[in-house]
Amino acid sequence: MADKTFPLPTRNDAVLDFLADRRSNKSKAMSEPGPDEEQLRQILTLGTRVPDHRKLSPWRIVVFQGEARARIGAQLAQTYADDNPEHPEDRVAFEAARFLRAPVVLMVVSSPVDCLRGTPVWEQELSVGAVCMTLLMAAQASGFGAQWLSEWYAHDPRMHDALGVNEGERIAGFIYLGTPSEQSLSRPRPDLSDIVSFAS
Ligand SMILES: Cc1cc2nc3c(=O)[nH]c(=O)nc-3n(C[C@H](O)[C@H](O)[C@H](O)COP(=O)(O)O)c2cc1C
Repeated sequence: MADKTFPLPTRNDAVLDFLADRRSNKSKAMSEPGPDEEQLRQILTLGTRVPDHRKLSPWRIVVFQGEARARIGAQLAQTYADDNPEHPEDRVAFEAARFLRAPVVLMVVSSPVDCLRGTPVWEQELSVGAVCMTLLMAAQASGFGAQWLSEWYAHDPRMHDALGVNEGERIAGFIYLGTPSEQSLSRPRPDLSDIVSFAS
């Protein structure tokens, strides 16, 4: 019998209960307070503790809070108005206030490392998805609401300039963080028999 001198994984019912009921909170129903500096630091630390083939850290995160959210909102409103000359006023106002829906918005950027015969970009992109998901869970486990959104501006090159997204990078998503102002609703989940098969 092997001498087990290291701690074995143990059942953690609190984590299992957390995962069993995990669901997102709506960004439109998220208010103050958001995480303070220390809480945000912990969310970022835990959120980036993800599998990462060859330890490349092929991602980065930009934090939008305070006035920085309004500045991006002005760019969103301008870009929207340029594309929609007949724009309704209330829609432009909505664009201006997008980042103000939550006290903190994290932009998670996929920043793949170009390594010939190294880790495929696909794997690096999977790692950034893991960052987004772990950020959501770290935020909720810290007592905040969280939602992962892309929306139109994640895929608009003009907004990439405004947001400081460089050539070769892609936005994996925006993680909206705050205090939920309404209960998040459950939604149907896929039936395991539709998505899992057992190889023979
Ligand atoms: C990459 C990605 C982008 C998403 N973008 C949006 C979006 O732009 N708008 C939206 O309503 N939901 C978006 N979602 C979905 C929400 O994050 C989330 O799935 C939904 O709120 C409920 O899921 P949950 O309760 O299982 O977490 C996105 C999800 C992913 C993975």
